Parts: sequence; structure tokens; C-alpha cells
Amino acid sequence: MPVAPETTSAIEAHNAAALSALKRRGPAVWLRPDALSAAAPRAPVITLSDVAEATARLERFQPALRKLFPESGWNGRITSALLDYPHGVGGALLVKADHTLPLTGSIKARGGVYELLCRIERMALADGVLAAGEGYEALATPEAARAFGHRKVVVASTGNLGFSIGLVARAFGLAADVHMSHDAKAWKKDRLLQLGARVVEHDCDYTLTVERARAAAAGSGDDFIDDESSRELLIGYATAADELIGQLSARGIVPTARKPVIVYLPCGVGGAPGGVTFGLKARLGDAVICVFVEPVASACVFAALATEQGAATSVYDLGLDNLTVADGLAVPRASALVLEAVGDQIDAVVAVSDDQMLGWVGRAWREAGLRLEPSAAAALAAIAPFREAMGGRPDIEAATHVAWTTGGSLLPDAEFERLLA
Ligand SMILES: Cc1ncc(COP(=O)(O)O)c(C=O)c1O
Repeated sequence: MPVAPETTSAIEAHNAAALSALKRRGPAVWLRPDALSAAAPRAPVITLSDVAEATARLERFQPALRKLFPESGWNGRITSALLDYPHGVGGALLVKADHTLPLTGSIKARGGVYELLCRIERMALADGVLAAGEGYEALATPEAARAFGHRKVVVASTGNLGFSIGLVARAFGLAADVHMSHDAKAWKKDRLLQLGARVVEHDCDYTLTVERARAAAAGSGDDFIDDESSRELLIGYATAADELIGQLSARGIVPTARKPVIVYLPCGVGGAPGGVTFGLKARLGDAVICVFVEPVASACVFAALATEQGAATSVYDLGLDNLTVADGLAVPRASALVLEAVGDQIDAVVAVSDDQMLGWVGRAWREAGLRLEPSAAAALAAIAPFREAMGGRPDIEAATHVAWTTGGSLLPDAEFERLLA
């Protein structure tokens, strides 16, 4: 194993080599230079009191969600298990199983659905569907659905966000227009059509799809859920941090700087990993290490941080093509809002190859029975390269590793078998 780069200049040299490797379309690991963490203080984009408010709002909606999705026997709470992975990686390896999240089988059920619920609450109060102080079961009735019938939400997606928002919007009776980038898989579009959502297909990448969807919503005056620049999305994802901390503590794991928890977070535009990072860092400080994971071809947060150009840089500027088997992560440009909120708290970014992700789709299935899409398997694929880059540093060797498996349980059999093959 190489020795961990410890001084700022050693990290800068490591990062320069990593950026060159990425430009040659190879896997690479970017490490945060210490200097960045000492950036000048600025007004926070989101706060812990926003997160507490979100937790309370999700609790208010719980009876409505339970009533709208009774077939699953679900309790209306958007939570996932923390599982043991049967093989360690030096330290213990746990899996935060968001691929099994209720409703949509992906982490998008947290931020995407949370923002939708915020909007439904505002619409319900404005339209008189809900009286102040009334229980939220009132939102899950045929009368409420009729009252919401003239409302529409618009969203752009590579697949999972659109599916999450389309599913829940339709259940409440809202119309949903889901703009899909060329990466979106046919089965995700088919499911949306079955739900009665309108699917607008675009023959372009995610960044351009967002622009087109935003313009369409501005033209029609409909509600646009903006994955690139929404505080509410970030806050929804951030609620997952307390859930994880509670689960770690139930196992007797209390992270410290010497024995940290390292969380591997698959990253597209950055909202999901960014929100979780905000919550974890706010609670655990340097007892948590947050590692974002991206496909080599779509390593937009890597590009933003390594070039120090932020969201002004896209992966195309590095000569990458944004073509990857990980459809959920196929994003060429990072969210400027996420970089502003947590850019200086991202400890590392690991860019993994399609082969590494596909290898872990198979391995996680054979070794642990986990049904993951490549975007989620990315979390597992990042552990070895990150550990190697850290060169046996004692805190990393003593750490608990948490792979956040962000999606896949709803993959159709044929699709999953094709990935395994
Ligand atoms: C399975 C999966 N994992 C991770 C992500 C990344 O989320 P974000 O784009 O908010 O970074 C996505 C995004 O769609 C996804 O579908």
C-alpha cells in the first residue's frame, strides 16, 4: 500500500496525479486538502433546525402515506435498515440499505419525496384541503385527490427521482410531468406511465434536461422540483443522518476521530450525498468521514473540487463523456447549491469504473443477497480504492465502513439478470 499523503503539498501532488488519471478515463481518488476545511465561515445553506422541522413534517405525513400505500403493509415512515455485510474490509462493513426504501426502492424517496410533501402541505393549506391543526389523514381521501386534481408537479430525472415523485404525486391525486434524460431506463419510464404520469423524453444529458424542464414549468406556471438547486431536497436527505446515528448507537458504535465511521455515498448531482453529509458532519464532526462516489465518466463533483472551478466545470471539460452504466449517477455538472452547502466538508471523492460497479452488483448479490443497481454498488466499489489511497492510516484501519446502497430493490428480474450477466 502507498503511504497516505499527509502534508498539504503531498495531498496536492496526489490530487494532481488523480486528476490526470481521471482525464485518462481511469479510476481515481481525490482527497480534501486540509487548507480547504479552514475556509472562511459563511452563512449556512441549511441548518439543523431545518432538519428537525423536516423530521416533524415527515411524522405529520406518516398517517397519510400509510393510508395511500396500504398494500405494502408499510407504516408510512421512510426509513431503511442498517445491515451487516458478511465480509469485513479490514474494519467492519455495514450497509445502509436505502435500496430497500419503501415506495421507490431508492434514496430519492428521502429528498425528492420530502420536497413534494412540503409542496403538498403548502397547496393543501392554500386550497383549503387541510384546515390548520387538522390531521394529515385528510390528505389521503378521494375528496383531497379531487381537490389536488388541477395541480401539477414537474421534475427532471435520470430515473429514480422522477419515479419517486411521480409515484407519490399520483397517489395524492396531482398530475406529474417527468422529464427524463437519455440515460433513463425504459422500465422506469414504463412504471411512471402505468401510474398515470406524463413522461417527457429528452435526447440529451441530465443538465440540459433540467434546463428544459425548468423552462417548461416556468411557462405553464406548474410547481417545478429542482434537483439541482433545492434546499428542501437537501434537507430531506439530511434527515437520514440521525437515522444512521441512532442505528450505529443501537449497535454500540460511537464514532470518534480515532475510530471514525466512513460513509460511502453514491453521487449524481450531489443532493443526496450532500444532504446526508450535512447531517452527519453537523452531528459527528471529525468522527465521520464522508466519501462521495461517482462513475469515472460522470465524476462532476470530483471535477468541481479538483479543478477548484466548482459547478463552472463539467466532466466534458475534462474530456469525459458522461456515458456510464450507472444511470442514477449520470450527471455532467455538480449542483452549485450542494457545493456551497457542503463542498468544504467532502473528505474524498472516489471515481469508479463501470466494471468495478458491475463487479460489485454481482458480488453483493452472491455474498449478501443484496439487489443493487450499479449506482448503488458504486458505494461498495469505492471502499478498496479509498483505503488504498489512505495508505494504512491508523484511523482508517480502525474505522467502521458504511456503504450507502442507494437503489435497486425494484429492478425488474430481467434487468437485474442482464446486469449480473
Ligand atoms: C440510485 C441512486 N443513487 C444515488 C443517486 C445520487 O443522488 P444525487 O443526484 O442527488 O447526487 C441517484 C440519483 O438519482 C440514484 O438514482
